[in-house]
Amino acid sequence: MDYPLDHIGIVVEDLAKSIPFYTGSYGLEVTCREIIEERGIELVFLGLGNTDLELIAPLRPDSTVSKFLAERGPGLHHLCYKVADIRAEMKRLTGLGFELVDPTPRPGARGSEIAFFHPKTTDGVLTELLQYT
Ligand code: CO
Repeated sequence: MDYPLDHIGIVVEDLAKSIPFYTGSYGLEVTCREIIEERGIELVFLGLGNTDLELIAPLRPDSTVSKFLAERGPGLHHLCYKVADIRAEMKRLTGLGFELVDPTPRPGARGSEIAFFHPKTTDGVLTELLQYT
């Protein structure tokens, strides 16, 4: 089965510190920067070749990563797989016992729709599905 990794999500405290870390140490390049207002986060993508790193920084205290950051500090957050039909895949995996964070896809970065599954039902890894629209 073809299940390509779209990106690896990493929560950071401060993009002004983390971007130079990744560009300076590994020579990665920023390919996209986008604010997701309704989730209170800013995303920065760095190209890795066949996949990307997605740095996720909170813009306000009620952002979707603020709790994670307060409880666990910065670090690995999720894996995101690219699928052709996100609704069909959400239905199939839900049928296997996976638990969705939201019942319907929501808008993601770079012209996509995304959905997350709770890590307690995905072998301990917060898992995102993404379909480019
Ligand atoms: Co992501």
